Amino acid sequence: MGHGPTILRVICKIVMAAVGAAALASGCVGVPHPDAADVERAQTRWPGTDQATLEAGRRLYVQKCSACHTLYPPGSHTPEQWPAIVAEMGAEAGIRPEDQALIEEFLVTISGRPNPSP
Ligand code: HEC
Repeated sequence: MGHGPTILRVICKIVMAAVGAAALASGCVGVPHPDAADVERAQTRWPGTDQATLEAGRRLYVQKCSACHTLYPPGSHTPEQWPAIVAEMGAEAGIRPEDQALIEEFLVTISGRPNPSP
C-alpha cells in the first residue's frame, strides 16, 4: 500500500471540491453503474447475481468506503487485488461481512470489464 495519488484521484478531488456533496453522492467520476454486460459477467462467478445486487454493492461502496479517503476507481486495481483490499479495509472500518461481500462483488465485476474505465 502507499501509492501516491493518481491523476484520476486528483481530478476526483477537484470535482468534489467544485460540486461537493453532489459529486460524493454520485460516486464522483470513477464509480460507474453496472450494465447488462457486467451482470452477465458477474453471473459466471456469482450465480443469481442481478442488476440490483451489483447496484447494492455500488451503493455500499460509495457509502462505506469514502469515510477516510476519496473513492478509488474500480479500475485502479485488478479483480485479483480487490478481495484482499476489501477484506483489509472492511475489517479496519468494521463493515459487516455481508456488505463486504457485495462491495467485493461490485469491485471485482467492474474492474473485470474488458476495457476497464479507470
Ligand atoms: C477507517 C478508514 C478507512 C475506511 C472506512 C476505508 N479505508 Fe481504504 N484506506 C485507509 C487508509 C488509512 C489507507 C492508506 C494506508 C494503507 O495503504 O494502508 C487506505 C488505502 C486504501 C487503498 C489503497 C491500497 C493500495 O494498495 O493502493 C484502497 C484501494 C482502499 N483503501 C480501498 C478501500 C475500500 C474498498 C474501502 C471500503 C471497503 C475502504 N478503503 C475503506 C482507510 C480506510
